[in-house]
Amino acid sequence: MPEAIRAVKEAFIQLSSGQARVPARTSIELPELRTTALVMPAYLPATKRIGLKLISLCEDNPAKGLPLAQAVTILMDAETGTPLAVLDASYLTAVRTGASSGAATDALAREDARVAAVFGAGVQGRTQLEAVASVRPLEKALIFDVDPRAAARFAEEMGRRLSLRVEPAASPQALREADIVCTATTSAVPVFADADLKPGAHVNAVGSYKPHIRETPPETVIRARVFVDHRASALEEAGDLIMPLRAGQISESHILAEIGEVLAGLVPGRLSEEEITLFKSVGSAVQDLAVAGLVVG
Ligand SMILES: NC(=O)c1ccc[n+]([C@@H]2O[C@H](COP(=O)([O-])OP(=O)(O)OC[C@H]3O[C@@H](n4cnc5c(N)ncnc54)[C@H](O)[C@@H]3O)[C@@H](O)[C@H]2O)c1
Repeated sequence: MPEAIRAVKEAFIQLSSGQARVPARTSIELPELRTTALVMPAYLPATKRIGLKLISLCEDNPAKGLPLAQAVTILMDAETGTPLAVLDASYLTAVRTGASSGAATDALAREDARVAAVFGAGVQGRTQLEAVASVRPLEKALIFDVDPRAAARFAEEMGRRLSLRVEPAASPQALREADIVCTATTSAVPVFADADLKPGAHVNAVGSYKPHIRETPPETVIRARVFVDHRASALEEAGDLIMPLRAGQISESHILAEIGEVLAGLVPGRLSEEEITLFKSVGSAVQDLAVAGLVVG
């Protein structure tokens, strides 16, 4: 994970500086199958590689014991066009999504953050916690899921893997203790109440990727310093931001910067110990190229 965080930070800097080429991703909506497929191309100059990820999100899969998200990434040499690798990218997607929150947490969370709360005890929730634990010396983590058995499994597995106190939370209010909050759920509506956020908390919101779906309450978006992975994609897909924008509660300038601009030192991140910072990600193909590069070498 620390290597993935380094690679994703570098990729975000290339994305925000305009060096990476990232055409808007194409979405194939199949409501009759409760499936969405995303086609995500990119070129990363640092590696001179072209990449393409095809990811499927099948809403009925978890009930069938299958992963919600499954993916494949193709890599080609950009100079010769030679295919280099075809990778099963389901695990890599979880790693790079964790790594993006790790990069944002490193840049935006308070240095003295010691307690994390994760919403969503699924595939992404696991790498969210792994990433946060890579950038801050956590003393405790709380996990909340609408399915208490999933939360219990998560607590046992992640506590063992990370040698960390991980406790299932009985209610979303558990985040009152948390310095870092990660939302990685399939919820269409906010998963916590703004009033429960601890002053100075940093929030990574990774779950929603459609304009009518959000995990964070608008009150949090309105009062937070807001950062995104990619501005154009956020304005297309991030319901957490699009809904308050459409309601006139915020303007586009409320999105202060892409995280790559903060990582490059161009825009300040956190300004005070008491404010709330929010990183909303919908995912970018540059992250997929970055972690695929770690595998292929
Ligand atoms: N930002 C990104 O780059 C990125 C990348 C991959 C996936 N995602 C998104 O992340 C989300 C989670 O994906 P996953 O693969 O971990 O799915 P998953 O099915 O493995 O886990 C989702 C979990 O969320 C729980 N949940 C649903 N509503 C909840 C609520 N209100 N409060 C607490 N828990 C709740 C479910 O019970 C489930 O355990 C999806 O929406 C997916 O599209 C985002």
